[in-house]
Amino acid sequence: MSRVIGALYRLLYDGILCRLPEPTAVALGQTALRLLPWDRLSVFRLDDRRLAVTLGGVRLPNPLILAAMYYDPRILRRAMGLGFGAVTTKSITVDPRPGHPAPNLARVRTAAGPGLVNCNGFQNPGLERFRATLARLPHRVPLIVSVAGESVSDYVTLVTALGPAADLVEFNISSPNTRLVYEWSKKPRELVALLRAVRAATNKPLIVKLSPDFADANEFEIIPAALEAGIRIVNYGNTRSVEDRRLSQGSGGLSGPEIFPVTLENLRRTRARFGRELEIIATGGVDSPEKARRLLREGATAVGYFTGFITRGPILAREILESLRADR
Ligand SMILES: Cc1cc2nc3c(=O)[nH]c(=O)nc-3n(C[C@H](O)[C@H](O)[C@H](O)COP(=O)(O)O)c2cc1C
Repeated sequence: MSRVIGALYRLLYDGILCRLPEPTAVALGQTALRLLPWDRLSVFRLDDRRLAVTLGGVRLPNPLILAAMYYDPRILRRAMGLGFGAVTTKSITVDPRPGHPAPNLARVRTAAGPGLVNCNGFQNPGLERFRATLARLPHRVPLIVSVAGESVSDYVTLVTALGPAADLVEFNISSPNTRLVYEWSKKPRELVALLRAVRAATNKPLIVKLSPDFADANEFEIIPAALEAGIRIVNYGNTRSVEDRRLSQGSGGLSGPEIFPVTLENLRRTRARFGRELEIIATGGVDSPEKARRLLREGATAVGYFTGFITRGPILAREILESLRADR
């Protein structure tokens, strides 16, 4: 059944969604997600206790995580019923941000399959408005709240305010399309102060989201500093920085299957170096059951994806879960 739905969705994506201008396709997809009760349909989920994992001591019903992108509580609520073991929010900043002007999203078609390049620029309602909406969001599965800041005090404010509403907190130091966050990966020494201050600001499990563009800094400076500060989970990782003249910023973050080989390589390298003392969410390019299984086999604690949710549809989680169950 899930294979049939998956094949139909691919026809819809290739035949219609892909032919619409990006803003129209995004508006259509998000409206459908908000308004229709997908989360009540059991076909998108697979409940099986053998699939459960723990992340930072928190039980996830399965190892699939919807990566950071959505902040609308209606969408987050729906996503929690679509098979994921945890759902991540968009990165929230202290003040509201309109994001970068359009065009800020473009499709890419590569031999590896359909992907995206974005320069979203953290469009979000800001800390206070987001916090109010979170209060009404039931946690059907664990919620990972993502935050992004310009300074140590921004991150501390965000983590202090949003930590109580989260099961885990992810702090983003890696989105390539604004200088404010990406710069952190380029100054690992200053990052040490950030890691320590954020650790002291909450007792919730913390996740550092890394950039695949800084593999050496991650391995030799950032992850050791995170471990020293008592942070034991990394999300590896964010989009890759690429130039794209179609976007308003002339560059953006590449996501989708083209970045999968880098995700796999970074996972292997990190697992080999840090062993089991580190929990790793492997994110980047997962759009099939085979890729998710591969990452789990190579030692990922959990697997995140966003672009696959768009290009392969909400049924992808169920397809992956069925194939994981077959392995048990
Ligand atoms: C439109 C768009 C917006 C995103 N916004 C965020 C964000 O706010 N914070 C963040 O950490 N990652 C963000 N990401 C990155 C994703 O969470 C994910 O790490 C990345 O897309 C790689 O995974 P994928 O290939 O499965 O999409 C965004 C990605 C896209 C395409």
